[in-house]
Amino acid sequence: MTYPLELQQLRVFYRTRDGEVAALRNVSLSINAGEIVGLVGESGSGKSTLGLAVMRLLKPSAARVTGSVHVGGQDLYSLTDDALRLTRWRHIAMVFQSSMNALNPVLSVESHFRDTFLAHDPTMRKSAIQTKTAELLELVRLNPAVAHNYPHELSGGMRQRVVIALALALNPSVLILDEPTTALDVVVQRAILDQIRHIQQQRRLAVLFITHDFMLVSSLADRIAVLYAGELMEVTAEVTGDTALHHPYTKGLMRAAPRLLGTRVTIESIPGEPPDMRTLPPGCPFYDRCSQRLPRCQKTPLPPRTGETFIRCHLVDDSITVHHDIGGDPS
Ligand SMILES: Nc1ncnc2c1ncn2[C@@H]1O[C@H](COP(=O)(O)OP(=O)(O)OP(=O)(O)O)[C@@H](O)[C@H]1O
Ligand SMILES: [Mg+2]
Repeated sequence: MTYPLELQQLRVFYRTRDGEVAALRNVSLSINAGEIVGLVGESGSGKSTLGLAVMRLLKPSAARVTGSVHVGGQDLYSLTDDALRLTRWRHIAMVFQSSMNALNPVLSVESHFRDTFLAHDPTMRKSAIQTKTAELLELVRLNPAVAHNYPHELSGGMRQRVVIALALALNPSVLILDEPTTALDVVVQRAILDQIRHIQQQRRLAVLFITHDFMLVSSLADRIAVLYAGELMEVTAEVTGDTALHHPYTKGLMRAAPRLLGTRVTIESIPGEPPDMRTLPPGCPFYDRCSQRLPRCQKTPLPPRTGETFIRCHLVDDSITVHHDIGGDPS
């Protein structure tokens, strides 16, 4: 089966003055057409690094990338620069973190679209560009007249919609959104998320939605991938009340997400800090903060896992074994 997006054993090492630092380790993840996968994790866990590595946008002088990224069955890292230029934006596009503030202030909205179209098809006519621009603005629920505005004349929510429309300009089948609504108020955020959901279903897009907001992603995504210290700890199809089924870190994120109990909002933070990526412990990277750790979690590396859903945790492995023993499962 060919996935629109498939990552296998993806690793990223940033080159620093003190040597290489692993920012992403052994990430394997596939996304189906018409599916939203949420990628959650604390600040610095490697979420943006993953997005940039998937787009092959990390410069070889800044980072070493190993493993593979397949887009529609095509190995992105084996493409020539010219072939890569064609694939990027046409097959896979990304809305970058804080990109609504990265629109060029001296260019009108229309000029941003014109530059995008002409970069991929220099022969495209002015009338076709205008028609496509109006269609894309309508797609994200903006008035096509916005084309004549400059970025500073638009609200943050409108700029974010423009950036999303630009990413969709060449009709990609895979879209990566890096914190697309974080800087916006909740009402605008909700409206944009509804819109993303609508477009994604209409176009059967495979979406990787990056956020630190666990509540937001659990209401939006079909599956949630939980990143900790550059490693996927769990990929879960649904966030169930039965928390025994989840990784202790995922449970911590659930408890840390604000929720209403009566009239009070309660938040339980996860004690401690993420580990220093330069001196990672040999076993589970969550060991120091885990309230359910076992002695062997300190030294024994986490088992590699692949598939649509999985958990990488010694404790959960044990409880599954126990469960099978009790149930007399012959496997
Ligand atoms: N160019 C770089 N050179 C060296 N280290 C880097 C570079 N870019 C990021 N890092 C490091 O890689 C790790 C992951 O960073 P990344 O930006 O991917 O995290 P993130 O999960 O997106 O965080 P946030 O939620 O704050 O956006 C961090 O420890 C960061 O300091
Ligand atoms: Mg980031």
